[in-house]
Amino acid sequence: MLKKSITVTDNRNGKTYEYPVLRASRGPDVADIRTFYKDTGMFTYDPGFTSTASCESKITFIDGDKGELLYRGIEIENLANEYTYLEVCFLLLKGRLPDKKEALEFDLEIRHRSFVHEGLTNLIGSFPDNAHPMSILSSSVSALASFYYEHLDINNEAEYHEMAMRIIAKIPTLAAFAYRHSLGIPLIYPNISKSFSENFLYMMRAYPHDKLKITSEGELEIKQVEIDALDTIFTLHADHEQNASTTTVRGVASTGAHPYVAISAGISALWGRAHGGANESVIAQLEMIGDVKNIPKFIEKAKDKNDPFRLMGFGHRVYKNFDPRAKVLKKLQDRLKDEMKMDAKLLEIAHEIEQIALNDDYFISRNLYPNIDFYSGVVLYALKIPRNMFTPIFVIGRTVGWIAQWIEFKKDPLSKIARPRQLYTGK
Ligand code: ACO
Repeated sequence: MLKKSITVTDNRNGKTYEYPVLRASRGPDVADIRTFYKDTGMFTYDPGFTSTASCESKITFIDGDKGELLYRGIEIENLANEYTYLEVCFLLLKGRLPDKKEALEFDLEIRHRSFVHEGLTNLIGSFPDNAHPMSILSSSVSALASFYYEHLDINNEAEYHEMAMRIIAKIPTLAAFAYRHSLGIPLIYPNISKSFSENFLYMMRAYPHDKLKITSEGELEIKQVEIDALDTIFTLHADHEQNASTTTVRGVASTGAHPYVAISAGISALWGRAHGGANESVIAQLEMIGDVKNIPKFIEKAKDKNDPFRLMGFGHRVYKNFDPRAKVLKKLQDRLKDEMKMDAKLLEIAHEIEQIALNDDYFISRNLYPNIDFYSGVVLYALKIPRNMFTPIFVIGRTVGWIAQWIEFKKDPLSKIARPRQLYTGK
C-alpha cells in the first residue's frame, strides 16, 4: 500500500524528515510541509509559487494538462452554454446551481442593488478625463469600503451575502461610470428592467434621454447576440482558482482588511499585461502588426531570447494544453463573424498568428497555446467595446470569484496571515 507521506533526506547530514501527503479530490496531492522550517531550519524556495499550494479550496478546479476547468465540479463549457452569468455566480457562492425561483430572486436582488451612493459619482468626477477606467474602478471599489463600512461577522450568512451581492451588483455600474467619465459624457444610471449583461451595455451606450437606437444604421442598438456574448464572457472569467489577482485578494483578506479593499487590490493585480491586462494588449499588438505580411517579423521577435517582446494572448502558467475557455470563445468568435460586422483584416492577422504559433516548434515545445485573452480581445473588439474597457469587463466577471474565495478564506480555520520568507543574499 502507498504510504501517505514523503521522506526528505538532508544530504549534508543524512537526517530524514517525514511529511504527510494531503489527498486532493482531483489533481495533484500536496505535501504538507508546514513544519519544514521548524524541523530543518530551512525555508523552501519557490519564486512565483510554481509548486506551492497556498490554501485548500473547493471552488474551482483546473487540469492544465488536459485543458479542463470546473466551477464547483461542473465543466466550464456546460456552464457557458447552458446557464446565465448570474446563475454561475449563485453556483460559485453557494456551491450549487439555483432552482428557477432562487435564480429569479438572485437576479432581482442584483438589479435592485446596482445603484451606487451619489458620493461615488463625485469621486469618479474628480479623475482626469484621460484616466484609465481600471484606475478609476480600483479606486472607486476601494472607496466602497467607506460608503458601506461595517464590521462583518463571517458566521452571519446574511451579512456576507449582502456584502457579496452589493459588490457584484455595483461593479458594472462603477465600470460604466468610469468609462463614461473617461469620455466626458453624462453618466447613465442602471435600468433595473434589463438583465445584468444588457444593463451593462446600456449604461455604456445609452443617451441621457434613455434612447439607444438613434442612428438609421441602428449603431447603438443592443443586439441579443451581443448580450449573450458578453454574458458568456463574464461566465468564462468568473473564477480561476489561485491566480495572481485571487492570491492578492486572499493576501489582503489575510490581514483582516475590509473585503472591498481586498477586491480593489485584486483589480490592481489584474490590470497587469501578464494577467488580465493582456486582453487590451492583444488588440494593441494586432493593430501594431497591421498586416499579415509583418507577422513573421513579430514571431521572430517573440522567439528571440534577447528581445523582451512577447506574443500577447499566448502562454499560461497552468494550461499546457488548449485553455477550455479559449475554445468556447473561439466558437463565439466564429458566430460573431457571421452576425456582426467584424474587422476582416484584424481577424485575418489573429487567425494567421494563431496558426503559425500552433505549428511552430518554439511555441509547441513550450506549450504556448492561445489563452482566454487572445480570443476575448478579438470578441470584445467585435462587440465594439472600447479597448480600455476590456480589462474592466474581466473585472466584472471575476468579482464573484474573488468574493467566493474571500469568503472561503475567512471561513477556513487554518487561514493565516500571508507572510512568505526569503533567501537572503544581501550584505
Ligand atoms: N511569447 C513568447 N514566448 C513566451 C510567451 C509568449 N507569450 N509566454 C511564455 N514564453 C516563453 C518564455 O520566454 C519561456 O521561454 P524559455 O523556457 O525559453 O525561457 C517559456 O515560454 C516559459 O515562460 P514563463 O514566462 O516562464 O511562463 P510563466 O508561467 O511564468 O508565464 C505568462 C505565463 C505570464 C502568461 C506568459 O506566458 C506571458 O507573459 N504571456 C503573455 C501575456 C498573456 O497573454 N497573459 C495572459 C495570461 S492569461 C490570464 O492571466 C487571464
